[in-house]
Amino acid sequence: MSQHYLLVKQSPPLHGTVQLVGAKNAVLVIMASVILTNGVSVLENVPQSADVMHMIILLKDLGALVHFDHHNNKLTIDTTALNAYEVKPDIMNKMRASILAVGPLLGRFGKAKVAFPGGCLLGARPIDYHIQGFKKMGALVDTQETSVNITLKPYAERPVYTRFILEYPSVGATENIMMFAAIGKGTTEIINAAIEPEVLDLIECLTKMGAQITCKEGQVIEIKAVEKLQPISHRIIPDRLEAGALLLAAAITKGSVHLPQARADHMDVFLDKLSAMGHNIKTGTNKTLQYPHQGIQLTATQNPIAIPFKTGPYPCFPTDLQAPTMAMLCVTSGTSTIEETVFENRLLHVKELQKMGAQITQHDQQKATIRGVESLYGADVIATDIRASCALVLAGLVAQGQTKMTGIHHWRRGYEKLEEKLAAMGALIEEIIQQ
Ligand code: UD1
Repeated sequence: MSQHYLLVKQSPPLHGTVQLVGAKNAVLVIMASVILTNGVSVLENVPQSADVMHMIILLKDLGALVHFDHHNNKLTIDTTALNAYEVKPDIMNKMRASILAVGPLLGRFGKAKVAFPGGCLLGARPIDYHIQGFKKMGALVDTQETSVNITLKPYAERPVYTRFILEYPSVGATENIMMFAAIGKGTTEIINAAIEPEVLDLIECLTKMGAQITCKEGQVIEIKAVEKLQPISHRIIPDRLEAGALLLAAAITKGSVHLPQARADHMDVFLDKLSAMGHNIKTGTNKTLQYPHQGIQLTATQNPIAIPFKTGPYPCFPTDLQAPTMAMLCVTSGTSTIEETVFENRLLHVKELQKMGAQITQHDQQKATIRGVESLYGADVIATDIRASCALVLAGLVAQGQTKMTGIHHWRRGYEKLEEKLAAMGALIEEIIQQ
């Protein structure tokens, strides 16, 4: 039987200066947003992750011409001939972010047909907020067992003003509603909108396209629809989640790392927690670039301190760094606590870390207490989602012996060659394919 896994061995302290790729969660939605335009857009700093490849397939299937210059991480998308409004079930099932095509398709064609999205196993992950928003803005929604058909009401029947209150600041719903509202008719206010850096990167792109978007105080985003949007050139923001993984890799192995592109102002709470653990963090280390907070340097403490943390919408602790941080806490002496408030089922990595000797008590689907141990032990583990794969690789770096991580497709979905970057810092990690 063929086997495909990442083999991680106990590694020396990692050291190095590492260049970051663009943020996966920004590029996926920005790729979807170009559906709103007619012509050629160019995106730079695009990561070569499996999810980006899926989004390319989605756009091509709709009729776009896409060229990915892998060497320069540059993506060219020509939407001139884009002529379909249905995202096929096999594409939808591979990646939840496919749902982000709906807002732009409605904006472009006035209709969209999609199956219910797939993706990571993080709980139910409904799309009810997206649907509620579309309805409020004048869409008719026909929900079938496995798919949903959305069409716009005639122009005259659509509202001139929509005030849409998000029950929870959902990233995807904010993005989808914003893209739909950018073109066509009326003014839309999204109240309790998500304000993640990736959402702000999308706003920057839509504004470059000619959209009229204002971020108001209190997490309110106002969008005044325009008639037409133009193609753009845009450089994707650096990936704060890749940055987090690299900082934790240096921290857990008691090494050091410098990330010249990392935006410290995108990850304040996470950096505060690393400092509270005793790690030495310097920010604004990159004086040559545009932003005063750009560049992060971490030198690990030899005796980290246990911490409590709770995930939440930005600017709180990011849910996508919960699992990787848990790996670090497994080998931090003292008792740490974690509360996951964003997703209802995002502690699946606990069972895998326990296989490696971690002392974790899981109280329910969202809360866990971790008693730091001196040592973890290599084991055969399975990645259950993108960020869980990162947690298991980090644990593998300090576990005695070797760790075999299957479910490697999750790792590939979220990270571009991160194992090569870790290896360049001294990690003993390699991909194994056995036929
Ligand atoms: C995005 C990110 C993901 C990150 C998450 C939270 C992308 C491609 N993915 O996912 O990496 O972990 O933000 O920062 O950008 N919810 C509903 N109904 C909805 C929509 C969401 O109940 O219609 C719930 C979800 O089940 C979840 C919470 O809202 O409990 C937050 O989800 P959301 O912010 O929408 O996450 P995504 O956009 O899917």
